[in-house]
Amino acid sequence: MVKIGPIELPDFPLLLAPMEDVSDPPFRTLCKEQGADVMYTEFISSEGLIRDAAKSVMKLDIYEKERPVGIQIFGAELDSMLQAIDIVTATKPDIIDINFGCPVKKVVCKNAGAGILRDIPLMVKLTEAMVKRTHLPVTVKTRLGWDHDSIKIVEVAERLQDVGIQAISIHGRTRVQMYKGQADWKPIAAVKNNPRMHIPVFGNGDVDSPEAAVRMRDDYGLDGAMIGRASIGYPWFFREVKHYFETGEHLPPPDMMARVEAARRHLEMSIAWKGEKLGVLETRRHYTNYFKGIPNFKPYRMRMVTSDDAADVFAAFDEALEVFGDHVFA
Ligand SMILES: Cc1cc2nc3c(=O)[nH]c(=O)nc-3n(C[C@H](O)[C@H](O)[C@H](O)COP(=O)(O)O)c2cc1C
Repeated sequence: MVKIGPIELPDFPLLLAPMEDVSDPPFRTLCKEQGADVMYTEFISSEGLIRDAAKSVMKLDIYEKERPVGIQIFGAELDSMLQAIDIVTATKPDIIDINFGCPVKKVVCKNAGAGILRDIPLMVKLTEAMVKRTHLPVTVKTRLGWDHDSIKIVEVAERLQDVGIQAISIHGRTRVQMYKGQADWKPIAAVKNNPRMHIPVFGNGDVDSPEAAVRMRDDYGLDGAMIGRASIGYPWFFREVKHYFETGEHLPPPDMMARVEAARRHLEMSIAWKGEKLGVLETRRHYTNYFKGIPNFKPYRMRMVTSDDAADVFAAFDEALEVFGDHVFA
């Protein structure tokens, strides 16, 4: 059994990665239904939270049915981070996650996200203060290091554990790599193999098939997998990985009916949660994967991703089901 603080999880849990404008409550609901064990919210700016910016505050919303859920925050100013911890603690998630991995320029230039990998003492100091500030388990998500020559993730993970974090998720790339190349899981395995480590070490980066998840578990010995891009427009990924773990066999992919139903519910929940305009806009990025590999689907997809009118998108779902209902997915 794997434990994040008091939270008991099954062996080799699957975690939904925090993803901006993706890991929102509607999408998390679909992933939970398909077997994801832990949810993380998209990252939330500590500065935005303490200014009470509406967009940041809305991201604190969690549904009871998705627990255990972690709220992820980012920032680099101790005072703002502590105030943000208080605000997040009051909303009662199960976990608070600190983002020390975001590679985006506007975040790292303020030393937040992966920027802090250039100042490990500051990273440890901030973490210690945040752990002390809340009764909730604190976890960290980070990358291997700033660049290839400065990878010290074994030492960093141990120091973060020593100041009280309850789990660490590591994306097997450096900040300089951004998303290029292949994620390297060897340094993550080195963290796990450090005899002083006793908290769960979760691997992240390029878990894009059930076989990859098995490699992460069996060849690299990690405690669980955090899954990002493979789940976008494909929440069934979690169920498929679990089925493969249990049986060594692949589940058949969902049929057109299941895909249209998921897309419809996704859009309905998004509209209910953030209103028609944003709901229509932000669900768009999922449609390509929901309907991947259907020949001659382009006119329908174009309608789904360009129409501003929810009724028109729902009508496109219905028509697509009528026309492509028999399509057999590979
Ligand atoms: C659209 C998108 C948004 C992301 N937003 C966040 C975020 O808010 N916080 C974070 O820690 N990582 C974020 N990430 C990084 C992912 O959590 C993950 O580390 C990365 O995609 C590698 O995992 P994967 O290969 O399974 O996608 C984002 C990634 C994507 C593709």
